[in-house]
Amino acid sequence: MQNTSIKVVGLQKSYKQLQVLKGVDFEVEKGSIFALLGSNGAGKTTVVKILTTLLKQDSGTAIVNGFDVASKPENVRQAISLTGQFAAVDEILTGRENLIMIAKLRYLKNPRQVADDLLIRFGLTDAADRRASTYSGGMRRRLDIALSLVGKPQIIFLDEPTTGLDPEARIEVWKIVKELADGGTTVLLTTQYLEEAEQLADRIAILHEGKIIASGTLSDLKKLFPSAKVEYVEKQPTLEEIFLAIVGKKEGK
Ligand SMILES: Nc1ncnc2c1ncn2[C@@H]1O[C@H](COP(=O)(O)OP(=O)(O)OP(=O)(O)O)[C@@H](O)[C@H]1O
Ligand SMILES: [Mg+2]
Repeated sequence: MQNTSIKVVGLQKSYKQLQVLKGVDFEVEKGSIFALLGSNGAGKTTVVKILTTLLKQDSGTAIVNGFDVASKPENVRQAISLTGQFAAVDEILTGRENLIMIAKLRYLKNPRQVADDLLIRFGLTDAADRRASTYSGGMRRRLDIALSLVGKPQIIFLDEPTTGLDPEARIEVWKIVKELADGGTTVLLTTQYLEEAEQLADRIAILHEGKIIASGTLSDLKKLFPSAKVEYVEKQPTLEEIFLAIVGKKEGK
């Protein structure tokens, strides 16, 4: 339990008639990268919103950093940050001003220093004094992630951190995420990109039709999928093949 950052048991959520989560269970170990994988509309953002206290579940429990999200939301909020699916950057402000604003909102002692450090770390120093509206998609995403690191949260949630980025910018974000986890931060990210989960995640969970239908390390998932033998050469399945096989199988029922 000491090593568990996030524990989700039997999570259910409906929007009116639409039951999106039908009993979701998973655990995330401290300092690890956990990828929640699912198609459009699978409920990834719904899970993230519940875990970040923005939305209440109908039933089931979610413990984040030792606190129940439903009964102790303030404690949860102190330990986390969220980079939403749609950027939270203020376009009118410069990159530096965005960072300083958040540092002030978090009552940090030295907002300018905090901003400078993050600008360096995210390679945004040269663009620091330009309005964020002039940033490229990749720069904006980097600023967005930098904003979520103000105040050094223990757990960060990244909802589709690389959607819409070009391959180069995507690799940059991956590097940042890996560094975060190496430094002991727990990362829960959602993605539709199987390659992203394959590259980054210590553990992967596939959310489909309201449940986690498969989870584990990449090699655990590969074991679920018998390797095809072609002329004595073993072919390792890609995560994409595993995903399609599992999702396809469930739908076929
Ligand atoms: N506030 C809401 N009111 C009604 N339905 C909603 C609401 N939010 C989400 N939904 C529906 O719930 C389902 C799950 O949505 P959610 O945003 O969690 O999916 P997602 O996996 O994040 O999808 P995407 O990959 O497109 O971001 C979808 O069918 C969506 O239309
Ligand atoms: Mg979403």
